[in-house]
Formats: sequence, C-alpha cells, structure tokens
Amino acid sequence: MTGARAGFAGPGRPGDRVLVFGGPYSNLQALRAMRARAAGLAIAPANALCTGDIAAYGADPAAVCDLMRDWGCAVVMGNCEEQFAAAAPDCGCGFDDGSACDALSRQWYAHALSALDDGQRAWMCTLPRRIDFTLGELRCTAIHGGATRINRFIFPSTPAEEKRREADILAADLVIAGHSGLPFTQVLGAGRAWHNAGALGLPANDGTPDVWYSLLTPDGGGLAISHHRLAYDHGGAAKALRAARPGDPYAGALESGLWPSLDILPEAERALTGRRLDPAGVFLSSPIIAGAGT
Ligand SMILES: [Fe+2]
Repeated sequence: MTGARAGFAGPGRPGDRVLVFGGPYSNLQALRAMRARAAGLAIAPANALCTGDIAAYGADPAAVCDLMRDWGCAVVMGNCEEQFAAAAPDCGCGFDDGSACDALSRQWYAHALSALDDGQRAWMCTLPRRIDFTLGELRCTAIHGGATRINRFIFPSTPAEEKRREADILAADLVIAGHSGLPFTQVLGAGRAWHNAGALGLPANDGTPDVWYSLLTPDGGGLAISHHRLAYDHGGAAKALRAARPGDPYAGALESGLWPSLDILPEAERALTGRRLDPAGVFLSSPIIAGAGT
C-alpha cells in the first residue's frame, strides 16, 4: 500500500486502552457523544483512533472536521477525505453507477464539499493512509478500507483467507479497518484478527439508532477487544439533517437504525437487516506466546 507510516505512538503506558471508532460522517451529535464517552473513560486524545470518513452523510461536515481537529485523536485518511482533499467530483466509495447508493452519495457529497473550506481540506490531505503501532505484543495497523485499496469493503462475510492476505500485505497481527460500517472482530488464526469498530455517524442497520466504538485493552502481552454501543442524541442529528437537506433518507436512517440502501451489503449481511447486533469480544493472545511450540 502507498502512503506514509506515521505518527500514532499507541498507548503511553503498558496498560493503556485504545478507543477506536469509525466514520463520524458529519454527525456532530454522535461525535460530541463519543468525545464525552472518551473523557468519561479517561482516554487521552493520543489513545483515541478514528478509521476515517470524517465528513459524509450527516448535517455538519465543517463542524465535525473542526471538532476532530480540536480533539487531536489519530485519524486514518478515508476515501471521503481523499476525495474532498482533491475536490473530486464524487465520494469515491466505489458504488456502482446508477445504484441507490450512487444517487444518494451525489447529494451528500456535494453538500459536504461546499461546506468544507480550503484549510479543512488541506488538513484532510495530511492524514496518513495507515497507522502502525504496537499493543501488548501485537503489531496493529489501522487502515480505512483494504490494504491496497482505500475503498475496499471488507465485511464479516468476506472470506477469512482474503482478510489474511490483506493482513499479510500489511505485515499486521491485528488489522483495524473501517469503511464498511459494521462492527465485528474476526480471529484469523493464533494472535491474528480483523477488527472493524463500526461507524460513529450512522447506525449499523440493526434496527437501533445506536452507533459503535471499540476498546482495545492490552493484557499480558495479548489484547482484549470489546465492542460497545453508543446511544446519543440521534433525534437532534436527524433534525439537523432534515434542515440541511430536506427529504434526505439518511435522516430517517438515524432514527430507525436501518440503512436507506443495502446495495453494498453481501447477502449474509443483508439477511441480518433489523436484527439487533451484539458483536462478540475477542481476546487475542500474544503472537509470540501463541506461536511458541508450533
Ligand atoms: Fe469509506
């Protein structure tokens, strides 16, 4: 993958937790709630990590961008940042031409692009495409989509072998990715896993308005990974979106917890529409310990 390795040193002390969250998607109410939860958990900005797509579907792209910069947490570049930085004509999500997602994205992308100023877009341009750090004894790499393609959708149902190949390219024990918007952790073998914290700015199509974040807790050389719901002022977010873009179906999605289009979802994930999620936590052993004697 191209792009710089950069800047995120990981936890300052061996026992520090790292908070991970996915795309804020211009959802100011959700980002405020996330920042408040991080403060409540005593997680310093240096120990918070976002997997990109700061500005997208929601009402407040500029305010969300400013709040992220003010927070100072680590951010991986998403395809949205890549496109906004270049003032590209679309979001670069990789939707099929003529699909519902394609049509919807043209509306929110134009709104967000017009709301962001040159300074905000220049900041997006500086974001790293991957962030490498060590937790416990695990090599962790945060990316947005896939190892070689920023807008690759990797879902729970994506074959494990494909995830292993991506992890091999990244030389990572734990890959922390975003883009697909669903929270899950899949173990790929001893001391290896694929992790997606889910999205912060849009619910996970499970019929609830909650959004998601994760905690990575080093423990004895290994790592405990846990998924967490975040309830927030989704009514306020929907109201703001209706004011910003009347008739936009994403406002209803913030309340119902159901995506306005399922175009991008594989059959397995589509079948779970409206089913309340409860993604399992995982304990990843140290790959050094896991590999001993094998
Ligand atoms: Fe994305």
